[in-house]
Amino acid sequence: MSKLRSFIEELPKCELHVHIEGTLEPKMKLQLAKRNKVELPYKNEKAVRDAYEFDDLSSFLTVYYEGMSVLLTEQDFFDLTYAYLKKAHSQNVLYTEMFFDPQAHTARGVSFDTVIRGIRRAQMQAEISFGIRSQLIMCFLRDWSAEFAMSTLLQSIPYKEWIIGVGLDSDERNNPPIKFVEVFKRAREEGYFLTMHCDVDQKDSVNNIWQTVKDIGVDRIDHGVNSLEDMKLCEEIKEQSLTLTVCPISNSFVSDGSKSEAILSMLENGMRVTVNSDDPAYFPGYMTENLICVQKDVQLGKRELVQLAENAFEGTWLPRSTKDRFIEDLKNYVTKY
Ligand code: ADE
Ligand code: ZN
Repeated sequence: MSKLRSFIEELPKCELHVHIEGTLEPKMKLQLAKRNKVELPYKNEKAVRDAYEFDDLSSFLTVYYEGMSVLLTEQDFFDLTYAYLKKAHSQNVLYTEMFFDPQAHTARGVSFDTVIRGIRRAQMQAEISFGIRSQLIMCFLRDWSAEFAMSTLLQSIPYKEWIIGVGLDSDERNNPPIKFVEVFKRAREEGYFLTMHCDVDQKDSVNNIWQTVKDIGVDRIDHGVNSLEDMKLCEEIKEQSLTLTVCPISNSFVSDGSKSEAILSMLENGMRVTVNSDDPAYFPGYMTENLICVQKDVQLGKRELVQLAENAFEGTWLPRSTKDRFIEDLKNYVTKY
């Protein structure tokens, strides 16, 4: 394993499923609470982590939204994003498309402008400091109304140059994709790429994935593991060349396991599956740890690991020529290794 471990560590990577608010590590949570004079009921990092008691999506989301109370200023969003990009760079992530949840901040009085300016400044600084490239995906919270999502979409228009696409996250239960059909139609008209969470093992997972690919018409699917329950759906996903952003360590916290077998089946079935971290401060493990998790679970070899990395670069929303340059870097790494 140790040779494969260093192969994974040094592999040029691309991350397509990470929530920037989900990278808020306990240490930074405590630092920001102190700086912003926000009272938290935890004395130290261990106490913060000990309070992370979740075993499904909705219990995780409660902890995730609580944690955001310390994010108040532009500098907070800068620090959060810069720390993630630095960590990602240390694991050889060359490019990432990151989610942010503006409604989770505007709903508690932090302006859209504050959030996006802090994130954007960190993206630019990290590119200068480390060479890591990144883009931003704005997620709507599906357990809030379609009207709130639409007004957030309209609010984003002056910042369109800083946002590559829109997504849908939060609690899937009784919040099917179709609830947001008008919002996503308008987002498409505004030139955004589209993706949606189809979380693992939800009540209506298969139906919701069908809606996502047929009624919404997305460019990518976040998670989407349950598509394997319906071969026709898998064929449709392949037909549309959709990328699936699967998050093994996250899966092991919110469902009955990492779903590494599903990742392997998708690879074998020619689906464009990728491995990602989701909320690495809560489901401990960044890109390298997630790849190692799958490698160990189903004994992936170098060929499959490279395929996963190539799938991610291919699944980005970058222009063809930029994708090709990243894939070239990947191929050079494999040749030299
Ligand atoms: N928001 C942050 N992480 C999420 C996840 N894994 N599923 C749905 N919404 C989320
Ligand atoms: Zn997610």
